[in-house]
Amino acid sequence: MSAGPLEGRRALVTGAASGIGEATARLLLAQGARVALLDRDGERLGAVGKSLDSLALEADVCDEQAVARAVGEATDALGGLDLLVNNAGAGNLARFEDHDADDWQRVLSVNLAAVATVTRAALPALRAAGPGAAIVNNASGSAPRPTRGESAYSAAKAGVVALTQALAQEFAPDIRVNCVSPGVIRTAMTEPLFQIEGLLEPVNEATPLGRAGTAEEVAAVIAFLAGPGAAFVTGQNLVIDGGMSLPQAGIDQVLKGVVGG
Ligand SMILES: NC(=O)c1ccc[n+]([C@@H]2O[C@H](COP(=O)([O-])OP(=O)(O)OC[C@H]3O[C@@H](n4cnc5c(N)ncnc54)[C@H](O)[C@@H]3O)[C@@H](O)[C@H]2O)c1
Repeated sequence: MSAGPLEGRRALVTGAASGIGEATARLLLAQGARVALLDRDGERLGAVGKSLDSLALEADVCDEQAVARAVGEATDALGGLDLLVNNAGAGNLARFEDHDADDWQRVLSVNLAAVATVTRAALPALRAAGPGAAIVNNASGSAPRPTRGESAYSAAKAGVVALTQALAQEFAPDIRVNCVSPGVIRTAMTEPLFQIEGLLEPVNEATPLGRAGTAEEVAAVIAFLAGPGAAFVTGQNLVIDGGMSLPQAGIDQVLKGVVGG
């Protein structure tokens, strides 16, 4: 059996208990990496850790001390760290006026500040890893194309794209830094939208590829950006949305129906 493209790589995936993070952890493992999983949902994380036979670290990415402890544990257990996938994130669909300062802070904290927190904690190990070290951040299609009801989330995710581009330059040539911007992907985060019958039909109709994406389809791009096939790629934001952002797919009008205004 030939070695996978990530053979020998040591990876940390945040938000690994569900959706895109879980699919990414599974794929990195299948491609030969050893993977540590980090999530704040201890129960789900335990189950995923067991099914993937991988180290599971319960931590909130917004808690600097917990992150430092978890990254230290991952680095010790794996014998170093070559790959970091900053995937943990959470949406908050509400009109700007319905967001108080705490809501705003929470959304910015988990989706943007935490990316810096985890990166800071992992940086010494990534720098020590040698050739092949890489970070992949999970931004969102809402970064380049903000939607109604996602002001804080869109602003945070646009920040992730900017942070990715800044760090790609600061960390070069030691560590490549890229991000992905998924469109509508069916996961626990978006399930409430899928549960409203017919809600996403106009989006699918206006999306060139005609459907929502899967966590596995995003994981495939994250694994590509983490791996040797992307050895000359850094500072990029790869949009994974079935072409939805080309005609903007009418999602702005759909979300207007959900949040009002
Ligand atoms: N699903 C989509 O359509 C979509 C689109 C664009 C971007 N994204 C991004 O993809 C990433 C993964 O989302 P998903 O769709 O797989 O959702 P998901 O809800 O299935 O998974 C998110 C995971 O992150 C974890 N998490 C959330 N806050 C955390 C915290 N403070 N500390 C530690 N873990 C935390 C959750 O427990 C969960 O396991 C997120 O960053 C999200 O913003 C998703």
